[in-house]
Amino acid sequence: MYWHTVEHASMSTGLEGVVAASTRLSRVDGEAGTLILAGYAVEDLAPHATFEEVVTLFLTTYSSNASSDLVAGRKLSPTTIDVLHHAAARRAPPMDALLMATPTLEGDALTAIAAFPTIVGTYWRLLHGESPVPVRHDLSHAAHYLHQLSGAEPTPARARALETYLITVCDHGLNASTFTARVIASTQSDVISAITGALAALKGPLHGGAPGPALDMVFEIGTPDRAEAIIRSKLDAGERLMGFGHRVYRVRDPRADVLAAAAERLYEHGADRRTYELARSIERTALRVLHEHKPDRRLDTNVEFYTALLLHGLGLPTELFTPTFAVGRVLGWCAHYHEQLRDGRLIRPQSEYIGPVGLQYVA
Ligand code: SDX
Repeated sequence: MYWHTVEHASMSTGLEGVVAASTRLSRVDGEAGTLILAGYAVEDLAPHATFEEVVTLFLTTYSSNASSDLVAGRKLSPTTIDVLHHAAARRAPPMDALLMATPTLEGDALTAIAAFPTIVGTYWRLLHGESPVPVRHDLSHAAHYLHQLSGAEPTPARARALETYLITVCDHGLNASTFTARVIASTQSDVISAITGALAALKGPLHGGAPGPALDMVFEIGTPDRAEAIIRSKLDAGERLMGFGHRVYRVRDPRADVLAAAAERLYEHGADRRTYELARSIERTALRVLHEHKPDRRLDTNVEFYTALLLHGLGLPTELFTPTFAVGRVLGWCAHYHEQLRDGRLIRPQSEYIGPVGLQYVA
């Protein structure tokens, strides 16, 4: 369905089914519905490890003495802060502000991983006329991010919920943004440029831009009895349901259950339980209607549906969902950058020319 032969090569639209690299970082099994992160099942690592441990796990796959000191890189330079002030003056969306600020980072992968929470938190406060929060060195990475957003030290339960999320999404094979980072790495460009390109790819609604619209759909539906009619009308209009379907998973995304469990624990501690129950009901309806709509295509819940619920449970607004995805995924981009630089070669596929030939130029 997606392969056909071009001269002596074969073409796959969207590179579906193409294996473009070997990696030690993650294994995505779309048929079994499993995800291995550097040897550990996501269900085992995400709810129990610290993000700092996973940084060490990933960065030492390519460098035995890689530092995982995330505290030193938290403080932003005056240049980065200046760019964020300009972005706020233009009322730029948080994802655009992150894209504008990232090229001002100086240093290595660890700098970017450490600085992302400070960039997103600082920008969110500037955008709302509030002063940036002074960086504290005594907080974990996840707690630091929530502290940068609100100025308050988060409860252990809230920090744990975010940490589970950041680990769950830190890497996922050759998804569009990670592949972008690898293409840039393959030209021997620098890691900050690779991260900047990956951010631009993540922003798209078919990729990391999905969780906000997924939650918007839950609010639009409002009550379980309205779900079927509204979902049907969206599908009949040719719309895609955000938070469902996946290029690789032909069964339920294993990350959905990890995040659902983390969200459940959050909502037990007083977050907006009604929205959580409504979303679970809408998910059941969506899966049933999607199966009727596309019987020949397994369209199951993907990571973004429960990303939306978990981040909403943490009190994050939808505009911060994709930047928060980047706070976790930047670890994977950096590790893939170094793996590509060490093991790979220039990524340069061919294309099939289908335009005209033999035209004669007339001034
Ligand atoms: C992420 O790759 C990764 O690993 C990504 C990610 C990661 O960790 O990095 O897992 C994170 O990006 C998850 C996906 C988030 N995106 C969404 O939730 C957006 C909604 N999902 C779809 O747009 C879609 O499922 C994709 C983009 C995720 C995958 O699309 P594919 O593999 O290219 O499949 P397709 O577009 O060829 O669709 C096949 C058919 C189409 O129907 P026809 O045109 O053949 O009639 O299935 C339909 C599609 O219209 N379809 C959907 C649908 N997803 C596919 N119809 C309704 N709702 C959907 N969600």
